[in-house]
Amino acid sequence: MPPSLATLTTSILLLSLLSAVSSSSLPQENGIRVVSAEKRVDLTGSIVKVFLTLKVENAADAASDASQVLVAFTPTEVEHLSIVKAMKVEGKRKKKAYTPLSVQALDLTTTPNGACLYSVQLSTPLKPGEATTLEVLYVLTHSQEPFPAEISQSESQLVHYRDSAVLLSPYNVMEQVTYIKMPSNRIESFTRVDPTGRAGTELKYGTYKNQMPYTYIPILLHYENNHPFAIVEELVCKVEISHWGNVQITEHYKLKHGGARHKGVFSRLEYQSRPSISGTSSFKKILARLPPRVHSVYYRDEIGNISSSHLRSDSHKTELEIEPRYPLFGGWHCTFTIGYGMPLQDFLFESDDGRRYINLTFGSPLLDTVVDDLTIKVVLPEGSKNPQPVVPFLVDHHLETSYSYLDVVGRTTVVLKKKNIVGEHNVPFQVHYEFNPIFMLAEPLMLISAVFLFFVSCIAYLHMDLSIAKSS
Ligand SMILES: *[C@@H]1O[C@H](CO)[C@@H](O)[C@H](O)[C@H]1NC(C)=O
Ligand SMILES: *[C@@H]1O[C@H](CO)[C@@H](O)[C@H](O)[C@H]1NC(C)=O
Repeated sequence: MPPSLATLTTSILLLSLLSAVSSSSLPQENGIRVVSAEKRVDLTGSIVKVFLTLKVENAADAASDASQVLVAFTPTEVEHLSIVKAMKVEGKRKKKAYTPLSVQALDLTTTPNGACLYSVQLSTPLKPGEATTLEVLYVLTHSQEPFPAEISQSESQLVHYRDSAVLLSPYNVMEQVTYIKMPSNRIESFTRVDPTGRAGTELKYGTYKNQMPYTYIPILLHYENNHPFAIVEELVCKVEISHWGNVQITEHYKLKHGGARHKGVFSRLEYQSRPSISGTSSFKKILARLPPRVHSVYYRDEIGNISSSHLRSDSHKTELEIEPRYPLFGGWHCTFTIGYGMPLQDFLFESDDGRRYINLTFGSPLLDTVVDDLTIKVVLPEGSKNPQPVVPFLVDHHLETSYSYLDVVGRTTVVLKKKNIVGEHNVPFQVHYEFNPIFMLAEPLMLISAVFLFFVSCIAYLHMDLSIAKSS
């Protein structure tokens, strides 16, 4: 019996509905699938790092080349997502070559379970039947939640971490495994999703086969993590360029221990007499990695200079060990300032078009630390014009004018702002600007004229006869 007209129209309707849904919510390149995926989660620090190795394939019968591969995150992950980096891997074993790829957040709201998609742009489109291997690194901050939220001085810190046993992906995943590296042997509990295994400090979820797109299997881990939860709530970094040979850096920090809050009173006696068990979750120093050849390094807080800090330097780097006046326990704050000078010739260059540019490092020099709110102010020499920052990721920026001694018109200042900064953001950035060398003479000329005026007035004063007696 031939199908009736009614069923035909319904099926056509259904088909067109289906295609409408897929074109609005799913990626254009439907031919992509993940042949194998490996997810490695590193929980050994206070910052969570996740490495994905994805072997993706464009189906042999795909209608078109694929120019992008999508990576999915949950809305909670996006809230804590600090950076996503992707690379294409070519070659095998020791001859691997990595090509960085650009990553963009997509603005799609129609994905199942609210997943947010990021697009990895392939450097060469993937033809039907071709496969490629991608490595993706993403960093999550504030994602290990202390549980219990309050502990006393001698207790260890336990935290919760939530994730999915399988890779959240808009594609079919043929084969997948997840490894989770724990900070210590003490694991209170972890969700099992068979097969699940534990070997020392590593958990293994999988291998899982043939997952549907957007599969998400929640897992909850509860474990000990006494790594310093150092959080810089606010960092304002000022860079002052003087064409007379110096770059002066001043950094104001508002540091916090972001782990489980400290409960009860703090006993310094107990802290000092039993250092191995008392205050295991606290930290008393933090390391800053500064550029080589820095000079006049200082470290002070609101009371004054702190001389207990240690400075070590070699030809590649300088390390400053910052030791606040008291150890930091969960919820405790301290504010301090570090400052140093750097030789101008290491950082200031001239570009081909005759403009100058300063080449600095973004982010904070503190190791293993999250910066919630970063402001970098690059104060250009007086008389600089048309500044233009070049930063390899999105930042907010605006211009302002700052004044210092002997300034007449003020200094153009480029202000860069970004939230949720981690070590992966420590990459070079530049500020290009125009400068007329005649301005170099402004300050000395002002000084000379001031000194000259002073002498002239001295001479005038000495030669003036101010006595009343003679004039009579
Ligand atoms: C603090 O150290 C800086 C740099 O070493 C120095 O110039 C300043 O005089 C010191 N201040 C005090 C109060 O010791
Ligand atoms: C900036 O400095 C870094 C090293 O600190 C260097 O690798 C990079 O090439 C420099 N960039 C420019 C544009 O000069």
